[in-house]
Amino acid sequence: MKKIKIAVLGANGQLGQEFRYIHASYEYMSFDFFDKNALDITDPNAVKIALTTTVYDYVINCAAYTAVDKAENEQSLCFAINNLACINITDALHGLDTRLVHFSSDYVYHTYPGFPLQETDVTAPQGIYAQSKLQGEEHIRTTSIPALIIRTSWVVSVFGHNFVKTMIRLGKEKSEINVVNDQYGAPTNARHLAKVVLEIITQTETNSDLIQAFNDTYNFANEGIITWYDLAQYIMKQSLSNCKVFPIPTTAYPTPAKRPHWSVMSKKKINNAFQIDTPHWRQGIQEIMEELASKD
Ligand SMILES: NC(=O)c1ccc[n+]([C@@H]2O[C@H](COP(=O)([O-])OP(=O)(O)OC[C@H]3O[C@@H](n4cnc5c(N)ncnc54)[C@H](OP(=O)(O)O)[C@@H]3O)[C@@H](O)[C@H]2O)c1
Repeated sequence: MKKIKIAVLGANGQLGQEFRYIHASYEYMSFDFFDKNALDITDPNAVKIALTTTVYDYVINCAAYTAVDKAENEQSLCFAINNLACINITDALHGLDTRLVHFSSDYVYHTYPGFPLQETDVTAPQGIYAQSKLQGEEHIRTTSIPALIIRTSWVVSVFGHNFVKTMIRLGKEKSEINVVNDQYGAPTNARHLAKVVLEIITQTETNSDLIQAFNDTYNFANEGIITWYDLAQYIMKQSLSNCKVFPIPTTAYPTPAKRPHWSVMSKKKINNAFQIDTPHWRQGIQEIMEELASKD
């Protein structure tokens, strides 16, 4: 059987590295990994050459500008990576038999309906990063390129910089810290997300009924609802740290970019469309902490 040919862009980010980590288990897929040095997605010519010299079955775009606060002062760079580069990618794929996987964010919603956010809910992005992510996904939906767009939240991983690693470090360095307790959501273990994407690709390749479902926008995060304070408490407890965690309101920790109060997303749509696992956030965090501890 012909292998499914996949390009992963932004391959040195948290999510990109998770695809690298798991890819060898999928022997019926073959991967080319492009980090920023190998392919700058803001360069239309480079994107065209990379995605047409080899024609891929799937392009997985993990590249993004994710410095949410810095984005307020680096608007053009943020829009270039999160929005204009989507145009470069879809232009390059035009006329090819390639499907696209792209990631967006819970930040596009920024509303508080009082129940888990659904993909049909109104979007009200606050801040440059959030607006750039929404523009990127909106552009992709206007094209004829079949694209799976996944809105995810609070991405954490053994790779890169993230909340879990910061809390483990602070747990060793500090006797007490303050963490916001009025932003609700769920962390997403990037490895779980990467596996879900490869599972969806597998199901789409083996069941033609799913080709239509692939070309849509979905939420995905680990199960459960917590605040950053709950997550910090859990990490301190699991790492046997004596660091005390105190809850504070968002107003006591002002940031240049507004954070959504409610990032709780419904996973019903993705779970109805595909057979996938949505592990609980505790499992996701435990797996990361165990792997990090084994490397210490
Ligand atoms: N992190 C979160 O909490 C979170 C939450 C919701 C949604 N998301 C979305 O999930 C996806 C994956 O996020 P992540 O956490 O894996 O992000 P990440 O760790 O910041 O990785 C993004 C990668 O993209 C690379 N990149 C930046 N500009 C590029 C360019 N012009 N060309 C090619 N590569 C470029 C970055 O390289 P450099 O580091 O060298 O710049 C980095 O390796 C993104 O779409 C993000 O918006 C993330």
